[in-house]
Amino acid sequence: MQTLEEIEQDALKRNIPVMQKEGIEFLIAKLKEHQASSCLEIGSAIGYSAMMMVTHVNGLKVDTIELDKDRYQEAVFNIEERHLTEKITIYHDDALLFETSLLKNKPYDCLFIDAAKAQYQKFFEKYVPFVKEDGMIIVDNLDFHGMIFDIDHIKNRNTKQLVKKIKRFKDWIFHHEDYDVNYYQVGDGICIIKRKDKNGNSCFNQS
Ligand SMILES: C[S@@+](CC[C@H](N)C(=O)[O-])C[C@H]1O[C@@H](n2cnc3c(N)ncnc32)[C@H](O)[C@@H]1O
Repeated sequence: MQTLEEIEQDALKRNIPVMQKEGIEFLIAKLKEHQASSCLEIGSAIGYSAMMMVTHVNGLKVDTIELDKDRYQEAVFNIEERHLTEKITIYHDDALLFETSLLKNKPYDCLFIDAAKAQYQKFFEKYVPFVKEDGMIIVDNLDFHGMIFDIDHIKNRNTKQLVKKIKRFKDWIFHHEDYDVNYYQVGDGICIIKRKDKNGNSCFNQS
């Protein structure tokens, strides 16, 4: 059986996007800091990040949704092979169409969005109601390889559209009156988002 590190290396060779080492270590540290016992992940790929989370954070349960059938099946295989089915529930669906009443461990301490970047705002709006009042939302890949800082020089039309959508999400969430955002220059750019308290104050000092 492969180690999780070997799974990560193998995924990279096969062009399956999994979280960068720095990013996953950061995510695990934040889950521990928050004493999280539940996390909803959008975008499982082959289950690497979900397996990393539950094997490094005591008592954590992860529910995770994956659109691609082959990746979903590979994730199921990986999770079963490591006897992690008690800790990880994986669903095969488009997260934007998914029937949320099926979510097993809601409400969540953490919502981790790591799927189609053009849809970040839609994922956020659909799943934020299932995050606990003092929970956190973690969003990865917000710099898009640094391109977000230099959109005018992107030549490929599709890439430019995608980067513009990521920027639109970033601008929207950074200026949202109900949420507070901390940005970390880790991996490809990670944001942690929390609800402000009822007086509109930041909740980050309480984490
Ligand atoms: C960056 S990968 C996830 C990597 C994974 N979190 C890890 O680090 O091991 C993004 C995944 O999101 C999936 N995805 C894209 N759109 C989706 C959607 N609407 N619903 C569910 N999954 C989606 C893709 O098929 C892809 O496997």
